Amino acid sequence: MKNAFSDDLVNRRKFLFDSGRLVVMLSSFSLLAGACTSNDAGENRLADLVIEQGKIVLDLNESRYRALNTIGSGLKIEITRQAKPLIVTRVSETRIAAFSSQCTHAGYEVLLPEQGILACSSGHGGAFDLEGRVVNGPARSNLPSYETQLIDNRVHIAYSFR
Ligand code: FES
Repeated sequence: MKNAFSDDLVNRRKFLFDSGRLVVMLSSFSLLAGACTSNDAGENRLADLVIEQGKIVLDLNESRYRALNTIGSGLKIEITRQAKPLIVTRVSETRIAAFSSQCTHAGYEVLLPEQGILACSSGHGGAFDLEGRVVNGPARSNLPSYETQLIDNRVHIAYSFR
């Protein structure tokens, strides 16, 4: 004959054991998910980029950067998941500029150049030139820029990784 008390005890033990396993499984999954996220950030962004001596290097012979061979053109380069992308523009035969795409007025993203002007996506009217300097308010400050060098059709950008 079955004992209701001992059955209840067995069920409780089984429930606690299963709950414990579930907690362990969920913790393991979240640790794994966290590792993937941080790994992805590195692989999808930084591993994609060539870094030499702490600088981002874009080889303009590569098809993904070829737009920068045309004066007046620009590209957006994603550096991390968190930050808005970097804008890189071809200013002249010898000059490439690199600056933040985050508008200095209210933080909206700045669009790629059209006829030498980069409009802010906010619709507030802000606009910048190919060097990221304000040409139309309400933005009052230039876009934060990074030093660049163009050597043998490769752009070296002194981006500050934090
Ligand atoms: S956020 Fe760019 S002009 Fe307002």
